[in-house]
Amino acid sequence: MKFDAPASDNPIDRLKVVGQPVDRIDGPRKTTGTAPYAYERHEVVPNQAYGHVLGAGIAKGRITAIDASAAKAAPGVLAVVTTLDMPRLEKGVTNTASLFGGPDIQHYHQAIAVVVAESFEQARDAAAMIRVGYAPQRGRFDLTAEAPKAELASADSGAPPQEDRVGDFEGAFAQAAIRLDETYSTPDQSHAMMEPHATIAAWEGEKLTIWTSNQMIAWGKRDLARTLGLPAENVRVDSPFVGGGFGGKLFLRADAVLAALGARAAGRPVKVALTRPLMANNTTHRPATIQHIRIGAAPDGRITAIAHVSLSGDLEDGGPETAVAQTKLLYAGRNRLTALRLAVLDLPEGNAMRAPGEAPGLMALEVAMDEMAERLGMDPIEFRVVNDTQVDPDDPDRPFSQRQLIECLRHGAQRFDWSRRAATPGQRREGRWLLGMGVAVGFRNNLVMASGARVRLDRDRGVTVETDMTDIGTGSYTIIAQTAAEMMGVSLDKVTVHLGDSSFPASAGSGGQWGGNSATAGVYAACVKLREAVAGRLGFNSAEAEFVEGMVRAGNRGVRLGDAAGADGLTAEDKMEYGDLAKRYQQSTFAGHFVEVAVDAATGESRVRRMLAVCAAGRILNPKSARSQVIGAMTMGVGAALMEELAVDTRRGFFVNHDLAGYEVPVCADIPHQEVIFLDEVDPISSPMKAKGVGELGICGVGAAVANAIYNATGVRVRHYPITLDKLL
Ligand code: MOS
Repeated sequence: MKFDAPASDNPIDRLKVVGQPVDRIDGPRKTTGTAPYAYERHEVVPNQAYGHVLGAGIAKGRITAIDASAAKAAPGVLAVVTTLDMPRLEKGVTNTASLFGGPDIQHYHQAIAVVVAESFEQARDAAAMIRVGYAPQRGRFDLTAEAPKAELASADSGAPPQEDRVGDFEGAFAQAAIRLDETYSTPDQSHAMMEPHATIAAWEGEKLTIWTSNQMIAWGKRDLARTLGLPAENVRVDSPFVGGGFGGKLFLRADAVLAALGARAAGRPVKVALTRPLMANNTTHRPATIQHIRIGAAPDGRITAIAHVSLSGDLEDGGPETAVAQTKLLYAGRNRLTALRLAVLDLPEGNAMRAPGEAPGLMALEVAMDEMAERLGMDPIEFRVVNDTQVDPDDPDRPFSQRQLIECLRHGAQRFDWSRRAATPGQRREGRWLLGMGVAVGFRNNLVMASGARVRLDRDRGVTVETDMTDIGTGSYTIIAQTAAEMMGVSLDKVTVHLGDSSFPASAGSGGQWGGNSATAGVYAACVKLREAVAGRLGFNSAEAEFVEGMVRAGNRGVRLGDAAGADGLTAEDKMEYGDLAKRYQQSTFAGHFVEVAVDAATGESRVRRMLAVCAAGRILNPKSARSQVIGAMTMGVGAALMEELAVDTRRGFFVNHDLAGYEVPVCADIPHQEVIFLDEVDPISSPMKAKGVGELGICGVGAAVANAIYNATGVRVRHYPITLDKLL
């Protein structure tokens, strides 16, 4: 099915099941420990051995020799595979560095060997006995030092590097009555998901199955086949439950490749989990940025010139963090300049982490907007309202499909008691605590991705949905079941959902907050076909057939849905694809984020007191799971504002705080009160579901709202994250 015209009325609009705040259907399995994660899947294949991955001890240079003799002779060891045992492997399409490095090393902890043993402890002990000789080289590890050598980069690989210019930024900025010219920075960050990257691999002849933890099954299958030189049809990937991803599991990683190599060498199924240190330095991270922002405005607050240039680093052949994405679209202003610059660094691979681009971009832009509002003597909300735009500022013929940003801000201001904020910083005090309020805009583009599904109707077993879509803790199982129930006119308990298996139709996968809308749209398409098949079998006119309360009705005839399936059942498969509607409209999601903080006047310790997000993101398919997504994202935004930072050792080239003791993330006690409000909205441009993404919108702008609240409390403007107490004293 092709989606190329605004969605008309359809069965989803009945909202009997879709749009209801139903509990997660996988909730009981999650909370009783019966939804196994990859490493726990003891039942899928017998005789599993344990693999342990060895990472390179240098960041750049060459392996001169590997002596694995002691490891091979160690108790319980079944096989040792080192990178010198084989030619360099092909790289997956989505990988920047090789997942099995050597003899040239591209980054610290790049995988160079795997040891397979009868027990985890034996494998780990033996891995420590491997002696590796290195010829290290000087690497580039310091973004600030490499900045002068950075080059203009393009956001999309393949496109030529560019600056985007509209009008005459320099001329308009020079003439602006009120100006801001500041630099902001965000650090490297780690996904720090609860479940590590983990895989069980088993071979049957030349056929390979992996049970793993991955957000994008079709990408994983393609890249594993490519890396190992196998035909794609020989590879099966299965990942029904994922304990968090945040972008860190978008791609094939070393756990899958080395489990497969270890299993082949040992002649047995092998399971591998990456240790916490390897998750920091072996996998991907959100790269640090240095962002230069200039804004010029007229005395009435209208922006006349806006420029945003973001610098980030990555390995050779890597890409930039697209931190200017929101600045292209968020505010009006005739003279505009945005650019991305990329410095080559020999640190681990930079890549997507929750709302890549907008999340760090808004941490800078929305502080700059707060600073401008102050210079203009305007309320920060009014300054944003004055500069709202209902069209793409680069192309006035392209409207936003929906844009209720002003409504988010106005509604939020009322609910948050924004009028109690003191315009002058440092005015509100409660004992030793300085109190302040901050606001920032959340913005994240809404992407749509082709997505397929298969739906089956059985006489006694109801409706079964199969798609390779993943549930990374987001609630995919539930919204997919709600979609199928609505379409087929049955209750939720009559629907069974199977996800995450590459033998099912390929879906949009979980990434870029496109999964919820896109994957359910694919299920919608398959259900349309199944409805046609049911009507056809009954001799009903399919345009007239109604599917309600477990019945199919047309005219004065009515048949129980299960009976219509017949003894063999009925199956339909389809895929939702998108035409160029997305090019004619700009699709984005919006939020107003409000934060109140207290800062200890003596120590500079910042505590969040309360948070509110008002979101406009199309139809909300399940207000309960959507709220949970936004709550989690807001929490992650507090982490980005106050705690999270991978500390770079700029001499040796690695992230030092490579565990959850040194890499701090918020805990419940850090987040006393959060509220989420969704504006009532449907977006017929996004898909027949009329929904958009929320999972990444929730983090976008939060960091800046915290920073602005801290400024309001203290009068100290911090432009370099995280806002640790030393920066306030
Ligand atoms: Mo997301 S960073 O595309 O999982």
